[in-house]
Amino acid sequence: MTSPKRQGTELSIIVPTYNERENLPLVIQRVKSSLQGIRHEIIIVDDNSPDGTGKLADEFAKKFDNIQALHRAKKKGLASAVVHGLKYAKSPAICVIDADLQHPPEKIPELYAEIKKGADIAIASRYSRKGGVKRWGRKRKIISQGAEFLSRLSVPKTQELTDPLSGFFAFRQEVVAGANLDPVGFKILLEILVKGTWEKIAEVPYIFGKRIHGKSHLGFGEHFNYLRHLFRLMRASGEVSRLMKFCLVGASGVVVNLGLLWILTEFVGLFYLVSAAVSVEVSILSNFALNELWTFRDRARSAKGALKRVAKFNLICVGGLMINLVILGAMTELFGVYYMISALFGIAAAVLWNYVMSTMWAWKYAGAG
Ligand code: GDD
Ligand code: MN
Repeated sequence: MTSPKRQGTELSIIVPTYNERENLPLVIQRVKSSLQGIRHEIIIVDDNSPDGTGKLADEFAKKFDNIQALHRAKKKGLASAVVHGLKYAKSPAICVIDADLQHPPEKIPELYAEIKKGADIAIASRYSRKGGVKRWGRKRKIISQGAEFLSRLSVPKTQELTDPLSGFFAFRQEVVAGANLDPVGFKILLEILVKGTWEKIAEVPYIFGKRIHGKSHLGFGEHFNYLRHLFRLMRASGEVSRLMKFCLVGASGVVVNLGLLWILTEFVGLFYLVSAAVSVEVSILSNFALNELWTFRDRARSAKGALKRVAKFNLICVGGLMINLVILGAMTELFGVYYMISALFGIAAAVLWNYVMSTMWAWKYAGAG
């Protein structure tokens, strides 16, 4: 249903709305005046807002040729609203922006300029130098930083980005061509980063403004959606199978450790504590070799780096052992938990620690390419 006049636009702006009646006129006005000289269209995706935002969007669509209003019957989440809007976008470049003016429309030309200069995706970042957030409480800050950490952990591609959870960004249409976008919740950029095809990313700092009208839709349920989304993305990008490999390697290490302890003590005649020291180190090394050749094969770049990695992995394992012992001791001594149960918790925490440190430090992701 594209009117002929709209063809030939260079930039499509997608604006998801839910109860943004008071903000919509302002955001449209500011987008329009920021984009003078850039042929653009604005696509509003409303989820049947009870406050009548959808009706208002229709009025704008009637009045302006380059505005479309799309409607979904019920509230299905910010990220999928953007995916819906994408189906109607006709320009080679797309920009996604919230309707509540927390994302300043005046930054769109900068984002678009980065695309024209060759970036596949241009992200408006709160956390790059000169970026920031206005009037956030401690709690929201901590949650936001925690969410960014989880994204780096489970979606390694985002490790070098300062704000992979931004809701304000631009990209070339080709980035998502053929990608099966199927997000739950809010984080559409994360979905595009994992499933899209891209090489070059640019970041543009911005200050995340204060909401003047209405309130945020990022309720408690969104945290749960976010975890669900992360897990899906981990599966799609092979990180779940990496974690399983890591656990299998760990289990093989236990076999090596116990087997060698037995052989060295029974057949070589070493004192059992000496055998234990040797077998612990040998199992660390065999775990290292298997992780290097299997679990993290895609990230073990140079043979020269292997020496560094083996040193790091040893340190990680020592840390894991300490965590294991501290939890075992604390749960048993301070809380009276049966020591075999405490041991299970200790081991689980140590495995988690080992994995986090291995994927973020020893075999840190070092760029797509
Ligand atoms: N169509 C539709 N459906 N729109 C929605 C829905 C929905 O279910 N939920 C929210 N929106 C719209 C809002 O109307 C607003 O325009 C925009 O999506 C952002 O929603 P907010 O509730 O204001 O989110 P926020 O301010 O807490 O967080 C935003 O900014 C962060 C920083 O860039 C989001 O974009 C986050 O994903 C982002 O991390
Ligand atoms: Mn907002």
